[in-house]
Amino acid sequence: MGNFLAGKVVAVTGAGRGIGRAVAMACAAEGAQVVVNDYGVSIEGGEPSSEVAEAAVKEIEAAGGTAVAVADDVSTMAGGQRIVDTALQHYGRLDGVVCVAGILRERMLFNMTEEEWDPVVATHLKGTFTVFRAASAVMRAQRSGTLIGFTSGNHQGSVAQANYASAKGGIISLVRSAALGLHKYGVTANCVAPVARTRMSANVPMELKEIGEPEDVAALVVYLLSDRARDEKITGQVYTIAGPKIAVWAQPRELRAGYAEGAWTPEKIADFLPGTVGTDPMPMLAQLDAMAKAAAEGQRPNA
Ligand SMILES: NC(=O)c1ccc[n+]([C@@H]2O[C@H](COP(=O)([O-])OP(=O)(O)OC[C@H]3O[C@@H](n4cnc5c(N)ncnc54)[C@H](O)[C@@H]3O)[C@@H](O)[C@H]2O)c1
Repeated sequence: MGNFLAGKVVAVTGAGRGIGRAVAMACAAEGAQVVVNDYGVSIEGGEPSSEVAEAAVKEIEAAGGTAVAVADDVSTMAGGQRIVDTALQHYGRLDGVVCVAGILRERMLFNMTEEEWDPVVATHLKGTFTVFRAASAVMRAQRSGTLIGFTSGNHQGSVAQANYASAKGGIISLVRSAALGLHKYGVTANCVAPVARTRMSANVPMELKEIGEPEDVAALVVYLLSDRARDEKITGQVYTIAGPKIAVWAQPRELRAGYAEGAWTPEKIADFLPGTVGTDPMPMLAQLDAMAKAAAEGQRPNA
């Protein structure tokens, strides 16, 4: 056992399986007392079971760690509150929350139903809000704490997961808002975009060139929760971790601007925009063309 998180209390959602489980195990191994939340659902979000969270707690305890299970659905306000209240009741404080819980309901946009859109956005985006909302009130009063959201490279857009990509983009904006709104209270907020072998990534219809294990992701999360990251004042950042690779994403910013003389009209814009402001080519579109070419040549597309 290390002591990167000695004395800290950390709550992890989606902590019964995959990346969340590895995060919870690593936090406990580094000395944190851990609230393990998992609704225990299928990849699509059905058939909830409390056994998944309880099994992860037993594993942590067997390894000599301290943890308590909460089997609530993070997409409810009561669920988010219960995760935070459990930390306070059992361990008396809350130093970090890590919102990993997620589901997938894949469908092309033109066929996507409300039942495919709503639960995906509710689990990822609202499920990060419910926990951040309850945790940030505690952390503001404590004058310290770390919020961590989970996004995906797919926040750039996705062919058949508009629901998931929209939620993941929203999580980045939520994390940046938390970083801004809580800065003066000593609370940091960051986002992780992982690529790791789990039941969820096994669903991807392409060969992933850069992929690692949930334990790689857990190491980054432990660091972001630690005083070492807080001392560096790391906040409002998005990090990809994929096996041996760690990357930081750019902050969104204006690329080029132009100014009108007098009021804009559609015609003035048509004459002005293409040659001056122009466009910013979409990397995902280029990747899509390369994948279509590979598929046409009978190869398995990679990304
Ligand atoms: N695996 C990857 O390569 C990858 C890539 C990009 C993003 N992500 C993101 O990382 C996170 C973890 O993914 P994973 O691959 O470990 O998935 P996973 O399916 O292995 O684990 C997700 C866990 O979340 C739980 N969960 C689902 N809905 C919940 C709810 N409403 N309340 C509480 N718990 C709930 C599930 O029961 C499950 O145990 C997700 O947010 C996912 O979108 C993963």
